[in-house]
Amino acid sequence: MNGKIFENCYFLEFPKYGDNKRGFLTVFEENKNIPFKIKRVYYIYEIGDLTQIRGPHGHKKTEQVFFNLNGRATYYLDNGKEKKEIVLDKPNIGLYIGPKVWHYIKNYSKNIVFLVVASTFYEESDYLRNYDDFLDFIKDDFRI
Ligand code: TYD
Repeated sequence: MNGKIFENCYFLEFPKYGDNKRGFLTVFEENKNIPFKIKRVYYIYEIGDLTQIRGPHGHKKTEQVFFNLNGRATYYLDNGKEKKEIVLDKPNIGLYIGPKVWHYIKNYSKNIVFLVVASTFYEESDYLRNYDDFLDFIKDDFRI
């Protein structure tokens, strides 16, 4: 299921070892099945109000892979040309979101836990938190 969603966004499928009795193990490694060197890992949990959203924002440089370790959520993705909503609901499927993609996460199931691996250290200056700033940042990419 290594499926392209659009430029800079795609699904990654990771191995799932095990069975229903002993449980499953999924593993990823930087520069192997994660397509960058991992500088940062963070996770989001204990979302008390399932109607909240995380984001929205885009990144100038940061690449990330999102995992829903438990539960399901909808990811809204917009690269300035195309907009898509996808559901992530399997712990062995990652969602790669590259730079210059406006995104947010919504419609969580109860007890959702996200794990995110990122290619950069946290830096607020890498964020585009305003949609007009995002469009302005990507506009040169669409010039012919
Ligand atoms: P925030 O960007 O608001 O989360 P979201 O995009 O999901 O809405 O981040 C919440 C807080 O966590 C904010 O104070 C910044 C901090 N933070 C870090 O310190 N390091 C990180 O790597 C991330 C992602 C956030």
